[in-house]
Amino acid sequence: MKTIYNNLTVSNNPIVSHNLAIIRDKNTNPEIFRASLLRISRIIMSKAFVNVPMTTKKVETPLMETEVRVIDTTAEFIIAPVLRTGLVFSEIALDLLPFARVHHIGLYRDEETLKPVPYYNKLPRKFKSPDDTYVYILDPMLATGGSGSAAIQLFTDLGVLQKNITFISLISSPEGIDNVFAKFPDIKLITGAIDETLNNVGYILPGLGDAGDRTFNT
Ligand code: URA
Repeated sequence: MKTIYNNLTVSNNPIVSHNLAIIRDKNTNPEIFRASLLRISRIIMSKAFVNVPMTTKKVETPLMETEVRVIDTTAEFIIAPVLRTGLVFSEIALDLLPFARVHHIGLYRDEETLKPVPYYNKLPRKFKSPDDTYVYILDPMLATGGSGSAAIQLFTDLGVLQKNITFISLISSPEGIDNVFAKFPDIKLITGAIDETLNNVGYILPGLGDAGDRTFNT
């Protein structure tokens, strides 16, 4: 990585580290792989959602009325899982932000050019209030940054502010982080780990292999 980025958060949680070790192991079976992925995503996700807008309201406890802080659900919250592995993260994301909308994004990587090719886009044509829209892109492997940037671009094209876009990954490569921040310096990026580099076909090293295949037993 060339730079220190203010908007980059790397988890230092021991549960994340422990479960990453499990899913990196090539002998871990899909059932254990998915269970570990869910544990990691719960921790990373609760860190990612710290930027949600808050407001206050009154509630009656059994003893008295009091003012409480709650998420301002008049804002629009978008969870955007990048297929396929983003789906596992989206279960937890939706559990934590049950009022969010889920817009799936399908991007695959052309094996030769390594460029992202869109094949599914469930985004609306426009957002009611793009300035007040908070987007959480779930893409567990930030490798070249090509599909990550393409996913972010879908939202900035609709007027969503970079500062309200959070990219959530499990493992990132230094190259992917540099590429994404070069194009979108104001987004937030949260990851479970930063690995060493990429191989010549764009896989993260040491990484965990193909996250989709390992999750879905394909
Ligand atoms: N996608 C994966 O599933 N694994 C990688 O290492 C890179 C991209």
